[in-house]
Amino acid sequence: MNFKIALIKGDGIGPEVVGEAVKVLEAVGKKFGHRFTFVDVLLGGCATDAVGKSYPDGTAEKCNACDAVLLGAVGGPKWGSDKPAEQRPETALLAIRKDLGLYANLRPAFLRPALAGACPLKQETAEKGIDLMMVRELTGGIYFGKRDRYQTEDRGVECTDLMAYSEREIERIGRRAFELARLRRKKVSSVDKANVLETSRLWRSVMRRLSEEYPDVQYEDILVDNCAMQLVRDPGQFDVVVTENMFGDILSDEASMVTGSIGLLPSASVGDSAPGLYEPIHGSAPDIAGQDKANPIATILSVAMMFRYSFHLSDEADAIEAAVDRVLGEGWRTPDIAGPGVAPIGTRQMGDLICQAI
Ligand code: IPM
Ligand code: MG
Repeated sequence: MNFKIALIKGDGIGPEVVGEAVKVLEAVGKKFGHRFTFVDVLLGGCATDAVGKSYPDGTAEKCNACDAVLLGAVGGPKWGSDKPAEQRPETALLAIRKDLGLYANLRPAFLRPALAGACPLKQETAEKGIDLMMVRELTGGIYFGKRDRYQTEDRGVECTDLMAYSEREIERIGRRAFELARLRRKKVSSVDKANVLETSRLWRSVMRRLSEEYPDVQYEDILVDNCAMQLVRDPGQFDVVVTENMFGDILSDEASMVTGSIGLLPSASVGDSAPGLYEPIHGSAPDIAGQDKANPIATILSVAMMFRYSFHLSDEADAIEAAVDRVLGEGWRTPDIAGPGVAPIGTRQMGDLICQAI
């Protein structure tokens, strides 16, 4: 088959890790008989430097003309929160999620067998395994609500960020979670703060109603503070975890940390029709950019998710994941996961080894 893929290389280590992922795409294409056309799309701090804004006009249109989008990383201290919104990379990230209708963010946290030792939890906890899928609502809630900043007479400056959710928004993300659970261990944990927030009370009632349509899937609701605790106490209990945008932002970082390396975790952001967007969950790591030190595995595994969720080609996805496990199983490590006494390899060599294993 022929696929057209938008490449948002972005900032920091973004171009390096995308470079390795492209090599992997070519290796998969060779093995399975697919061809790829790549379209470079400028977004992030590099776009601010080039054209004065982080989200150049026509970005969404360019991406929409492709079958999928692969993003490296955006951001860096150069374009910090003191800069105007249109120059900040984060603004561009939120805009593209919204414009492409990518309301479902899938963030798997999986403890790869070869890296069980990297798990910071107690050994008996790690031995139970960690294999959960965080399903984060990505285009609603406090991230996109009305914001305000105003001067009061007696309390100085005051600000508000509005968190709003509609039944429709909750239902569509809920369905994604239940459908995904059916392909996994058939359990959904819905995270909310229904003891305090009205949006959470609506969230919980919609999720409970949906759960009745999926009697084959075990359902529970869990308060967000308890979930944060359970993720470090016993992450093995979770299969699919579904939650609103900001809770998902926070909990997905926590979930990634318990698996040992943020450099290994991919993500997929998908909607109902538009191309999906695939990106590692790590950031742009400007401190190691351009030094052949970054771990390309999270981006390479994002390509596996692209095959699975956008192209519906699971053999290709399996081949990439198996190649990663094989290379890790042979003991090859980039600096972030090398540990004491292990000589690390570089970004490019890691990419080459994974291509060979494919
Ligand atoms: C993420 C990031 C973004 C988010 C930032 C960079 C805006 O933390 O993808 O989790 O909060 O969504
Ligand atoms: Mg985050």
